[in-house]
Amino acid sequence: MKPVEWRDGVLRILDQTRLPAEERFMVLRTPEDVAGAIRAMAVRGAPLLGITAAFGLALAANRSDARSAKAWLRDLDRAGRLLVASRPTAVNVAWAVDRVLGAARSDDSAPTPGSGRGTWRVDDARRAVAREAQAIASEDETACLAIARLGAELLPDRANVLTHCNTGALATGGVGTAQGVIVAAHRSGKRIHVWVDETRPVLQGARLTAWELRREGVPMTLVADTVAGSLMAKGSVDAVIVGADRIAANGDVANKVGTYQLAVLAHHHGVPFYVAAPLSTVDFTCPSGLDIVVEERDPEEVLRPSGIPIAPPGTPVANPAFDVTPAGLISALITDRGMARPPDRASIRRLRKVRPGEAAGSGGWEAAS
Ligand code: MRU
Repeated sequence: MKPVEWRDGVLRILDQTRLPAEERFMVLRTPEDVAGAIRAMAVRGAPLLGITAAFGLALAANRSDARSAKAWLRDLDRAGRLLVASRPTAVNVAWAVDRVLGAARSDDSAPTPGSGRGTWRVDDARRAVAREAQAIASEDETACLAIARLGAELLPDRANVLTHCNTGALATGGVGTAQGVIVAAHRSGKRIHVWVDETRPVLQGARLTAWELRREGVPMTLVADTVAGSLMAKGSVDAVIVGADRIAANGDVANKVGTYQLAVLAHHHGVPFYVAAPLSTVDFTCPSGLDIVVEERDPEEVLRPSGIPIAPPGTPVANPAFDVTPAGLISALITDRGMARPPDRASIRRLRKVRPGEAAGSGGWEAAS
């Protein structure tokens, strides 16, 4: 099932707030609809958010009634700002918006000032935007496969793997990132068992990862987030693998809140801690985790999980959606361009030089530092 689909000039998304109870699709027609769906978390997961934002710009491109390239680009810029603001921590949104705006600006049909070239045609310009959005979606599908192949080699047969949040097909344009690794290892015949963190407060683990892994037939057990420590102490976790929402140039990783404490626990117990993400999640302009802005979400998510009140009305709440894990706690960063093991400024910079497709083809290429 594709959680996001561009069809006949509208965007269909699977409303993830209703899962697993109901599989209902929403039709989005404007960039405002898209920003609203992102804020409500009807669509989520850093790579999928990038794809969704790209199609949000395609909607803006189609709806604009501007008559000149300049005015049309202004409308797109405005929509881009709205989309980036809807989910500031996930860098894939800003990355995809920049990429689509770049394609809109360099569209061949756009007249170049002073060159005497071309008459701007809105239909060509709109097609260029939709093409770029489609390219982002299909590149992410390929990136997921490369990550899955590479990462699956790290998981031994009979491994008990702990994961947090949701990083599967519901969070990406393909088989997933961390979850794609798990599913690839399972499909290759390894007897993998997964500990799935429920992932407070929005329960992406319980609602989405459990749903996806069960559909895939991967053996799994759902645990409360607070169980991880005792599982590791008993020797019941062989590896932790998670995704990422933004990776700083030095390898620090912002991911769903709760990730950092898992990394500390894994370090304490000598359990390998892996992060899987496409290179599009690396923010090379962000020097370290200290520079990552973590969004604070609605207190209602904590006060009323699944709509059920669990605290006295008016209780003060802190609800940061993400936390930052320092690179020093990460055993390897698994990307579509190879592994950074351990992740640091040099090993991550080297990944940038690898062309798409090269990492998977080499059967385990590594950018060791
Ligand atoms: O708030 P969400 O559900 O969008 O959370 C983001 C995530 O899906 C995770 O943090 C994930 O690990 C990275 S995206 C594959």
